[in-house]
This record gives sequence, C-alpha cells and structure tokens, in this order.
Amino acid sequence: MLRLIITYGVKEEHMAKVLVCATNKGGEGKTTTSINLAEYASIILKKKVLLIDLDPQANLSGRYIAMDYDPTYKSGKIPPIHPDYDAEQDDQWDGRSSIANIFYGEEAVPYPTSIECLELLPAHSQKLLEAEAVTKNEVLEKVHMQLKYFVELTELQNSYDLVIIDTPPSKGPLTIAAIKAAPHLIVPAQMEQFSIEGIYGMLQLWKQESYKRPKTAPITLVGILPNKYRDINLHKEFLESLRQMPGIGNYVLPNPIKVRAVYSEILVDNANPRSIFELKESHVARQECEATCKEILNKVLDHG
Ligand SMILES: Nc1ncnc2c1ncn2[C@@H]1O[C@H](COP(=O)(O)OP(=O)(O)OP(=O)(O)O)[C@@H](O)[C@H]1O
Ligand SMILES: [Mg+2]
Repeated sequence: MLRLIITYGVKEEHMAKVLVCATNKGGEGKTTTSINLAEYASIILKKKVLLIDLDPQANLSGRYIAMDYDPTYKSGKIPPIHPDYDAEQDDQWDGRSSIANIFYGEEAVPYPTSIECLELLPAHSQKLLEAEAVTKNEVLEKVHMQLKYFVELTELQNSYDLVIIDTPPSKGPLTIAAIKAAPHLIVPAQMEQFSIEGIYGMLQLWKQESYKRPKTAPITLVGILPNKYRDINLHKEFLESLRQMPGIGNYVLPNPIKVRAVYSEILVDNANPRSIFELKESHVARQECEATCKEILNKVLDHG
C-alpha cells in the first residue's frame, strides 16, 4: 500500500509522465478517453498507471471501485474503505482515501483495480466541490499548486510509468490545478458548435499556462481528439475547418473516434467484455481506439 503525502522532497530523475484530459464543455469524452488511455497503457503496454479522478461526479472512480454514497451530502460519493486498511493499526485514518485529501494536507492512498497494472485515486464529491468553490486568493493558490506538488512526489514518480488525470467540465480551480500539474494535455471534443467553443476555452487556458512556464518545463498540447464522430456533413465540415485553422489545425489528431455503442456498453456494471482492449483485435472499435491511444501515448511516453 502506497501512502502518499506532500513533503516537498528532492526530485529524482525518473519522472512519471502525466497526462491531463480536459475541456470545460461537459460530455465530450474526458472520462471515456482517460479510461481508454489508461487501459491501453496498462493492459496492452503493461505500464504501471495511476488514474486520478478530479471530478466531483466521480464517474471514473465508479468504473473501478464500488463508491459509497456520502451520508452527509445526498448525491455525493465517497471512496469505500481501502482493501489494505487495518483499523487496529491505523487509528489516525478512517480507511477512505481520495485525491481530494491532498487539498487538506492529508495522505492519499491509491486503490488497486481489477486490472493488474492500474491503480486509482478516486474522487470525493463533497471535498472536491469544496476545493472547486474556493475563492480566497491565498487558498486558491494552494489548490492550484497542490496537485503539481503531488504528482512530482518522488515516491509517486518512482511507482508509476504514467499518471492520467480526469477533470470536471469546468475552468475552475480543479481544472486549473490539473493544467498546472500537466506536462501533457489532451482535449477531446465533438465536432459541433458548442464543443468547438469548449476547445477555444481550453486552448486559452493552455496558452496562458504556457506563457507562465519556464522553457525547461513546458505544457505540451498532445492533441485535440475529435470524439463521437459521425460521417455527416456537420461533423465533416467542423473537422475540416478546425484542421485549417492557424495555430489549432496542427493539433487535431488524425483519426477521429467515432460514435459507437461499445464505448458506452463497456462502462455498464458486469459488462462483458469490460474493456475495449478485451475485444477481438480485429474489432473495428478496438482498432480505432488502439490507433489513437498509440498516437497519443507515443508522444507522452517518448518525449518527456
Ligand atoms: N465515441 C463514443 N461513442 C459513443 N458514446 C460515447 C463516446 N465517447 C463517449 N461516449 C459516451 O458519452 C457520454 C459522455 O462521455 P464522458 O463521460 O466520457 O464525457 P465527459 O467529458 O467525461 O463528461 P463530463 O463532462 O460530464 O465529465 C458517456 O455516456 C459516454 O459513454
Ligand atoms: Mg467525465
């Protein structure tokens, strides 16, 4: 059991690659993309992966562990008791751990999942909502920087080959914290009007952050991923015009992910198969997804 707490220790050479999936528009495929990338990296590439769920909705967490309902907040979710928790030995800890702990100066303890190389730091709805609602400048600054300090922890870096962070549909403190923690950013988007506006919003955040960064620690936009794509004129035209746009076109990934029922079907409890990467190698969705994951992770895992 890995117990991680921010100590501001000395950094070592081995940096876990950190990839943030973000867009302020809801329902574009942030969580689905995080899942697919994490499962490709862990199941196919056998990389050690940590998934971080920074979204109070806790969709990502619920895919891998059975979340409990928060007794103090009706629609909120809290992580279950950690499987390695020993109540007799741990009287300082209640046995539940989430990524939100880092905003409260507490330990964060990743959970195992049914996938051998994949671990999860789940959401805690109420605590994340509190961090997202922070407005006081001094506290806001702390929220913004905490995730960066966390993913740079030597113990975390030495334990994982890849960290993937799923974010809420906002440009609030949690998304900004994720952007600040990220050497790599991926923006999924549908080829539709409101989604394109979401892309502009994210590119603005990315550019602002880029200007602030030292040259030695850039934030790379790995790509804009066209998702839920259909061969209809609307989508073709939006994709084409995005590709032509100066300063944006180069970032559009070559192969859109099409709208396919199987991307939702694998999310259902007791689904069979449980992952795109358990489909036959010849399955069209697996081939499509695998090509995109490979394209993205080649950039992330090969180039710092
Ligand atoms: N390529 C796809 N084909 C079909 N369904 C998809 C595809 N991508 C995502 N979906 C479905 O669309 C819905 C929204 O996707 P997802 O939850 O990944 O988006 P999100 O950006 O994380 O949403 P939110 O902003 O609420 O966090 C989900 O029901 C998901 O199963
Ligand atoms: Mg989501």
